[in-house]
Amino acid sequence: MLGNWITTNAPFGSGDDSSITRLAPRTITCLQRLLQSWAWRPRIVRASQPVNVRSENGEHGVFEGPIVSPTCKSTVRAPMTHDTDYVLGTHNEEIARLALQHQVWRPHMLDAWARAGMTRGSRVVDFGAGPGYATCDSAEIVGSGGQVTAIERSPYFLEFARQEIKRRNLSWIHFVESDLMADGLSVAEFDIAWCRWVASFVSSPPLLLKRIAASLCAGGRAVLHEYQDYSTWRMIPDSPSLTEFVGKVMVSWRNAGGEPNIVARLLPLMSDEGLRVISVKPLIFAARPTDFVWQWPASFLVSNSQRLVEVGLMQRADADRLQSDFRESAHNPNAVMMTPLVLEIIAEKQ
Ligand SMILES: C[S@@+](CC[C@H](N)C(=O)[O-])C[C@H]1O[C@@H](n2cnc3c(N)ncnc32)[C@H](O)[C@@H]1O
Repeated sequence: MLGNWITTNAPFGSGDDSSITRLAPRTITCLQRLLQSWAWRPRIVRASQPVNVRSENGEHGVFEGPIVSPTCKSTVRAPMTHDTDYVLGTHNEEIARLALQHQVWRPHMLDAWARAGMTRGSRVVDFGAGPGYATCDSAEIVGSGGQVTAIERSPYFLEFARQEIKRRNLSWIHFVESDLMADGLSVAEFDIAWCRWVASFVSSPPLLLKRIAASLCAGGRAVLHEYQDYSTWRMIPDSPSLTEFVGKVMVSWRNAGGEPNIVARLLPLMSDEGLRVISVKPLIFAARPTDFVWQWPASFLVSNSQRLVEVGLMQRADADRLQSDFRESAHNPNAVMMTPLVLEIIAEKQ
């Protein structure tokens, strides 16, 4: 069943859907478990039914101009660090959730990369790569003549990523096990720096931005997908339990030293770091229960309400009520879920 489900959503990819259909067996097992636990899911969409992303937000800030990345030599120096868990965890279920999240977002990521000029031979650095889903996609684009460096501090995510690159034969990926905030981390001379959903979790977003800027050669481009406003995650008709949950998620990230609405802090700092913003684009979905996009916030709600109970930010009874309200919304054909607002930023190193 899951195989069908994944194949069904293959049209989300922009031409190359290989990474969707070639998920590692361990990921598939986790996804299966996760899906089995989602009693509220509306239905499994079959391969014969096309799935589309309906609620894209039109044309915004499309990059115009030459999209050829200058080729430059990349260098990396990094200290080793021990693992530090991040607020959402690094367990198998989170690896599976990140896989689903990546499938939903992959077309938008590929579009941003294309507009930033990623191509055969590019040198790419992935900041906070997680289990390496985007890392592997970029390696397939740049080819063996290019170079991909992925920086991640979780050895558990990195172990998963290492198995993936071995299985997919992407030997030109280089992993750096490091905290992005660690003294001595130094990456330089890349064409493209990719950073997605990381700035909200680091102790110093300005330092992260500094490192992203320093990683690029002149003319290289930073591509960021980070949250601009997490509180846009709302249900229509309104669901007070969802709105309350979203508020608590934001509190939990702040308690862990992060900031959900991080773009407002990053954007004004770009020029100081020698980054000229060439494109900004809001990314938000109005998902209906049968849309694949719906599964992204839905999967987060399941795993994270459990986590909020564990850390004492939510009562078990409230988590149960949230899930039952959400199940109701998922069965309401007129329900529309607005997702957290992400801002895509493409900036060029001067
Ligand atoms: C939400 S996940 C996103 C993963 C990946 N960028 C993606 O888009 O699928 C956030 C990632 O940032 C990593 N991370 C958070 N803080 C970090 C830090 N200080 N140093 C290195 N990695 C960090 C976490 O371990 C996790 O893999």
